[in-house]
Amino acid sequence: MDTKYWTKYRLDRLYKDWDPKVLTDLKEKITKSNWRLGYHIQTDTGLLNDPNGFSYFNNQWHLFYQAFPYGGVHGLKSWTHMVSDDLVNWNNVNKSMVPDRYNDRHGCYSGSAINVNDKLFLIYTGNVFEDDDEYRRHPYQNGAWMDKDNNITKLSDPLIDDAPTGITGHFRDPQILKHGDYYYAILGAQTIDNEGEILTYRSKNVDKGWEFYKKMDLGHDNLGYMTECPNLGFVDGKVVLIFCPQGADDTKFSYDNIHPNAYIVADDFDWENMKLINPSAMHQVDEGFDFYATQLLNAPDGRLLSSTWIGLPDTEYLSDDEGWEGSLTMVRELHIKDGRLIQTPVKENDSLVKESVDVSEGMKLDKQSLIKFDVEDGKDNSMLIESDDSYLKLSFDKDSHKLTLTRKNVGEDPENRTILLGSSRFNNCSVYFDNTVFEMYINDGQRTMTGTFFHDGKNLTLNWDNLDNMKVNRLNNIGINE
Ligand code: FRU
Repeated sequence: MDTKYWTKYRLDRLYKDWDPKVLTDLKEKITKSNWRLGYHIQTDTGLLNDPNGFSYFNNQWHLFYQAFPYGGVHGLKSWTHMVSDDLVNWNNVNKSMVPDRYNDRHGCYSGSAINVNDKLFLIYTGNVFEDDDEYRRHPYQNGAWMDKDNNITKLSDPLIDDAPTGITGHFRDPQILKHGDYYYAILGAQTIDNEGEILTYRSKNVDKGWEFYKKMDLGHDNLGYMTECPNLGFVDGKVVLIFCPQGADDTKFSYDNIHPNAYIVADDFDWENMKLINPSAMHQVDEGFDFYATQLLNAPDGRLLSSTWIGLPDTEYLSDDEGWEGSLTMVRELHIKDGRLIQTPVKENDSLVKESVDVSEGMKLDKQSLIKFDVEDGKDNSMLIESDDSYLKLSFDKDSHKLTLTRKNVGEDPENRTILLGSSRFNNCSVYFDNTVFEMYINDGQRTMTGTFFHDGKNLTLNWDNLDNMKVNRLNNIGINE
């Protein structure tokens, strides 16, 4: 981050006070980038983080993302609105929800959406720093209605006007759900004793009367010092809770990224007591380098869908200097099998697949490619994507059953992420490669590894050892937000 430029004064500046030329200049600069993406949701300019308001409304899919359009930095956040007919091709509606009032003065933070009659109701956290000596963070939970022309009208008063007793200003990211006679909001929180919690509120009316209900009983207490972005999903007769327990004890729940994304599978959810019934252990949703703030959609067609930020909080990326950062994963379909999540890209993504390419070791790899392979059993296996000063290597060790992903971004030291596959071995893998991001679906989506990969942009090549049925297809470049 260029701290000389990004003073508090610029980070806090309201959108209406920015000179529009800043955006046109940024756009111009970004057109020269070699790192832009072909089929992942990326920003037009500036930074993207969490997915928000994922919904199906008025015969279209809606997905918003947390954005700061004026640079590759976490400034004042807004919601950028994308729509799609097929979960693959996304258009920017150009009607963002921006901070413009006392109860979201320092950012329209994360939230969700629900259909109510013929409108979409949005619920989000208004982040406000009070204007006192302590600069206390004051969280409001706010509502807004969106009509069929995608016009958003914020409610004038907050739905919840502060954190409850015993909770600090870190209280945010409501997921809204309907069950029986009530609307429920599930929120991430931090106690004054510095512990992460998930709290629930409820109301019979979506736009008023919200009251604290209960603390969620997860059957786990390793929630770190702050739990962000909790989401409940329902599929295959089971329940999954996905959340980001910042600071969770990594001797009890293993993760390597600065902040983890976790899930727990349960047999059922007791709405009366806000309790997960027979909860599993905590697992990572994804075991790659950059993956955070998953948002779930219990879709009207019965599928459980997810979208996730390919990025991490408190982390700088090489593209920041070009004035942009962050992307969203392809939309995934989730299932639960044998107590674990299975993730695959939604079938609609097949429309991205173009012609197959003749494969040979050392072949040139297109910036948008799908690489699929099986694995020769009983051997060490590996796949390597390489350009001059950077590489991405996936390797399986037949003796330890460890699958290791090594990344060397241009100009940086190599780093690893490892999965112990155990008795399930390494069977197959699909790598969705999109220039500077990748998503790897291992063993039919039983495990996934997602991340960024900043390479030199020249001479991308593909090599492998002891892999079977190697297939490479070009993927469409549909240039979302180009
Ligand atoms: C997670 C998060 C949320 C917050 C949002 C702000 O990445 O910190 O808790 O609402 O980002 O952009």
